[in-house]
Amino acid sequence: MKLLTGFLLCALLSFTQQAVPRDKCLCEVTYVEQTFPHDKLSTIEDSASKCNINVTPKMPLELESLLLGLDQRLLQLKEDVSELEKEDDGELYGVLSLQVIENEMTDIKQLIERLSRTTVESQHLTTNITTQLKDLKTGMEELEKYDTMHVVKSRQANQHLRASLSQCRKGTTIDIRPTQPYPQGKCPYGQFLNITGPRVYTAGEYPGSYAYGAWGRDPKPAAGKESWYWLVMLTSSNRFSNYVRLYNSLSALIVGKSGPGNIQIHSSNPATNTIQGPNTVMYREALYYNCYNQDAVCRFNLTTKTVSTLQLPKGTRYNSKGNFCHLDECYPYTDLDLATDESGVWVIYTTKQDFGDIVLSKIEEGDPLTLGQTWRTSVYKQAVTNTFMVCGVFYATRYISKDLEEIFYSFDTATGVERFNIGIFIHKMSTNILSLNYSPVDNMLYAYSDSKMVSYMLLFR
Ligand SMILES: *[C@@H]1O[C@H](CO)[C@@H](O)[C@H](O)[C@H]1NC(C)=O
Ligand SMILES: *[C@@H]1O[C@H](CO)[C@@H](O)[C@H](O)[C@H]1NC(C)=O
Ligand SMILES: *[C@@H]1O[C@H](CO)[C@@H](O)[C@H](O)[C@H]1NC(C)=O
Repeated sequence: MKLLTGFLLCALLSFTQQAVPRDKCLCEVTYVEQTFPHDKLSTIEDSASKCNINVTPKMPLELESLLLGLDQRLLQLKEDVSELEKEDDGELYGVLSLQVIENEMTDIKQLIERLSRTTVESQHLTTNITTQLKDLKTGMEELEKYDTMHVVKSRQANQHLRASLSQCRKGTTIDIRPTQPYPQGKCPYGQFLNITGPRVYTAGEYPGSYAYGAWGRDPKPAAGKESWYWLVMLTSSNRFSNYVRLYNSLSALIVGKSGPGNIQIHSSNPATNTIQGPNTVMYREALYYNCYNQDAVCRFNLTTKTVSTLQLPKGTRYNSKGNFCHLDECYPYTDLDLATDESGVWVIYTTKQDFGDIVLSKIEEGDPLTLGQTWRTSVYKQAVTNTFMVCGVFYATRYISKDLEEIFYSFDTATGVERFNIGIFIHKMSTNILSLNYSPVDNMLYAYSDSKMVSYMLLFR
């Protein structure tokens, strides 16, 4: 580098006085400073942002879910082996038990294969990123030498200012919040305060195939099915489904190996009693959902494979007329949302007479199904992206950005108190959340997000 940095700009200009006629004075200015390489800076900025995109939390998360799955499988294996040992009559092990164990070993082998593939990928990623970071650092050092105009430095200063500004803004919002405690409801764990980052994040058995769906755990499973998970994918037009798929463990769901398989409601899709819309839930081995082409809730009993229906009040919006929405779009056929919590099953909907505001009813599970107590909220359904219930408190979310969804609203059915300033953020792994449901068995919030299955743990005071 020819130039010394740190000189004032004017010192770098060389003036050459030339011999010219006396009545004229000519001054030639030569600018010997090299211009600042803006292209290079923007190339470096591009690589930095690419680097950022590569380092998402997805990879470690996948590892974590796989390890979690493996852990559960190994426990199961241990149990089954000790069961097998009990069967040992000195000569032969039960053929059936041996087969069960063989199947489990196959599952575990698959899990380990997935795990080692993911580990290798993440090692590559780490190596690549280290190299990229080194390159970036060298590039920036080069640029600093050119930086007599303080381009890079002032950008850095700007960034610091911006960061402190947003810090400052956050500080102010917290101050604005009212200091009264959250309404308590009848929650055994205390009040719901926050949620963790994603705990399980998986593409499951049909990666990318079905954008709309729901998954979760039955809060009141039958004996022996405590570790089961259910999955409903809208397999036709993002609108219908005619079956629920079951997995006997989380790891089985992650590696995509359904033991129990599908339980079919009807052989055609759609037909009467087909599942319409993604917001389904499972409770006491029955699936609750919006019945095809009706303003009614269907309950499919998985044991008897029979359907009962519950007619909703006159004026209930259905067939995609009272959907969940965000600014850019509405999610089709999300008129009805079913939810479970400690107290049972709820239905969330809206009616003409409520002018599109959310109405919330308890479902009484008897035979026939009946509609229990109903509450009217003052939150407009189309301003909400999804809802869920925890301990008798209703929560609604709204879209903030492709990475964030906010739990912004609550309605406590015990006190009737409504709040619009909850301010709990969900870190999304994909842009759209098509269903959200809380499972009181593990205090997890289950989300189905653009064909991915994600879960979060709720944190209570
Ligand atoms: C790392 O970089 C190599 C070559 O630059 C590329 O082939 C490979 O796909 C990259 N790996 C990851 C995980 O990004
Ligand atoms: C909620 O948790 C996130 C991190 O998971 C944290 O950044 C945030 O400050 C927490 N919010 C509250 C209100 O505690
Ligand atoms: C399903 O049917 C069985 C048999 O009639 C019954 O015992 C069970 O309670 C039903 N489940 C639900 C959720 O209604």
